[in-house]
Amino acid sequence: MDARPFRSVLYIPGSKERALEKARGLAADAIIFDLEDAVAPDEKANARTLLARTLAEADYGRRAKLVRINALSTGWGADDLEVISEARPEAVLLPKVDGPADIEALARLLDARPETAETRIWAMMESPKGVLDAAAIAAAPRMAGFVLGTNDLAKDLGCRVGPGRAALQCALQTCLLAARAEGIVAVDGVYNAFRDEDGLRAECVEGRDLGFDGKTLIHPAQIDIANEVFAPEAGEVDLARRQIAAHQEATARGEGVAVVDGKIVENLHVETAQRLLARAAAIAELQGAG
Ligand code: COA
Ligand code: MG
Repeated sequence: MDARPFRSVLYIPGSKERALEKARGLAADAIIFDLEDAVAPDEKANARTLLARTLAEADYGRRAKLVRINALSTGWGADDLEVISEARPEAVLLPKVDGPADIEALARLLDARPETAETRIWAMMESPKGVLDAAAIAAAPRMAGFVLGTNDLAKDLGCRVGPGRAALQCALQTCLLAARAEGIVAVDGVYNAFRDEDGLRAECVEGRDLGFDGKTLIHPAQIDIANEVFAPEAGEVDLARRQIAAHQEATARGEGVAVVDGKIVENLHVETAQRLLARAAAIAELQGAG
């Protein structure tokens, strides 16, 4: 897995010209251009042409760009892919994934076009069947990431989601395990109350501590909090540097273990520290690139 940041992953309805325009100047690490649930049925056709044109013309910088198409079973999905392919999307996000067969079907369509030879697949993990098959989905062809669809999951589970999301923990952690087993990205679900900063921050901290790379967002006002919570803190960067240095000195003395701030540092801690520094450097680079 590389260190590319996915702290803040903003959904933009593919039908909203103003939001598409605005997103070029927002500090989100990644954008999901949505043709699925944020677009009403009678807007689908216009949205896909607007989006294809926007992606071909507009400069979204170095941030990751994902296009969420409609499910291939809907009748819209194949048309979405047809029109969007012209813009050579770096990634297609497939909703309502129930198993690896859904990914394989999309991969075959991508294989069939030269424009999408390099396009990766991301899966919305948002159905009970999908969660139960998460390991096989993560291992399917072209897979690069999971996005948790927590609203759909809560609907299908019939659960009540409160602070701490106890009812969703099994699904969240199952998906995270599957993503990590295959070395793909895992991004947490959205926080619906987009004006509630404290609630968003608490849920970002929860997702970060579970191991997610970032959070999907529905409104620009949510970006700064996600970017802050999912970035390594200054103290963590400092500790990582000291751990690496101390371990190098220990190794030079012929010892395998160092001690920093009263805690042992072994090879595995050095790997974690190196990953953290790589993540911090990638964030600084993305922000510097604007
Ligand atoms: N991406 C980019 N820009 C966005 C945006 C988004 N997701 N949501 C809002 N904006 C822009 C608006 O265009 C507006 O721009 P302007 O003032 O410069 O013209 C500005 O941010 C402020 O918007 P605001 O008036 O506070 O929000 P709203 O009432 O227009 O819209 C939502 C609120 C929730 C309807 C809207 O944020 C939205 O559609 N979010 C995405 C929903 C979605 O994608 N759902 C599917 C996945 S769960
Ligand atoms: Mg959904």
